[in-house]
Amino acid sequence: GATKKALDRLAGSYALGVLFEREKDFLLAARNGSPLVVGLGPKGGFMGSDELALGASADHVTYLDDGDLAVVTADHITVYDKRGDVVERKIKTIQTSNASVGKAGYAHFMLKEIHEQPAVVLQTVRSLVSPLTGETFLPQLPFDFRDISRLSLVACGTSSYAGLVARYWFETLAGLVTEWDIASEYRYRDVLIDPKNGFIGISQSGETADTLAVMKELKRRGVGVVSLVNVPTSAMARLADATICTHAGPEIGVASTKAFTSQLAALACIAIYAGRVRGKLDLEQETTLLKSLYEAPAAISQVLSLSERIHEIVSNFVQTQNAFFLGRGTSYPIALEGALKLKEISYIHAEGYAAGELKHGPIARRNVKPALALM
Ligand code: F6R
Repeated sequence: GATKKALDRLAGSYALGVLFEREKDFLLAARNGSPLVVGLGPKGGFMGSDELALGASADHVTYLDDGDLAVVTADHITVYDKRGDVVERKIKTIQTSNASVGKAGYAHFMLKEIHEQPAVVLQTVRSLVSPLTGETFLPQLPFDFRDISRLSLVACGTSSYAGLVARYWFETLAGLVTEWDIASEYRYRDVLIDPKNGFIGISQSGETADTLAVMKELKRRGVGVVSLVNVPTSAMARLADATICTHAGPEIGVASTKAFTSQLAALACIAIYAGRVRGKLDLEQETTLLKSLYEAPAAISQVLSLSERIHEIVSNFVQTQNAFFLGRGTSYPIALEGALKLKEISYIHAEGYAAGELKHGPIARRNVKPALALM
């Protein structure tokens, strides 16, 4: 009771784990807005940010809801809801096998995950489109692609760049006005969206606070939301009216790689579907696109087989202090993603730039200054 009262005084997002110096046989876990799971295994009770974190210790996990307080002992978990009533939350058997979270001989998880891309892209495409009939397998969406006049794609970081690539696809393949934004801006803007718009929030983890906040706010305003996530048990999946899953498997590396390409694969499938139902793609165009999608894993493998050559080329750049990534069209968001990846992994300053913008700033001097030099 006292703990519940203390929690009532907290505002904002939190995920708390409380240990007691004198009470060694139980833990308290409380969450609001931030991810937290509790679990039981042969060696006792555990808590962590997600199922993966508990994979090595627990056999079963319970996902807590906002406002929940859990008392975790060595062999029992009691969950209290916002009002302080004992509630039953779904108990889930941990699926993640140790094999899928091991490094499988790679030097680090990111490298392993880079090499998993052909397989996970194929898995994702296969889960959404039949290779034989072209039939699309989507859940019941809260909007109909035939009726909407606008689609909004919102996410953070790498996932947002997947959305930005997809904006070109939805426009070109489905003739759909597509709005894109990063969630940390979108949530603080006076967004003009109504229940007749389509919305897809994109996230690997399904837990990112800004994206989740956007989805909550839209739901509050009566807008149906779709989540595209890699973790089917995540907060976004639970909140959304419909969830489409990527099948990248657990992404342990902090820098997103295979989740990004899986998101692209899924978004391509969705854009092709939208193009079909909106009458923008004929059967032949659709067949050609689906064929390319099914060929993508082999193309990715081909790139990965160049890793020795890439290693050689990289040796020319290791001393670099600054890097520009340029691109136009769908290569523009890819340039943004490339720059993000370099920054994140090497701490080398990098910028992604629209190729056509270079002359409006970074190289403008060269064009203008010769005239000045003559003066
Ligand atoms: C970059 C990276 C981050 C995430 C971002 C969103 O490599 O991993 O930028 O993409 O934090 O995370 P999710 O997709 O889980 O919402």
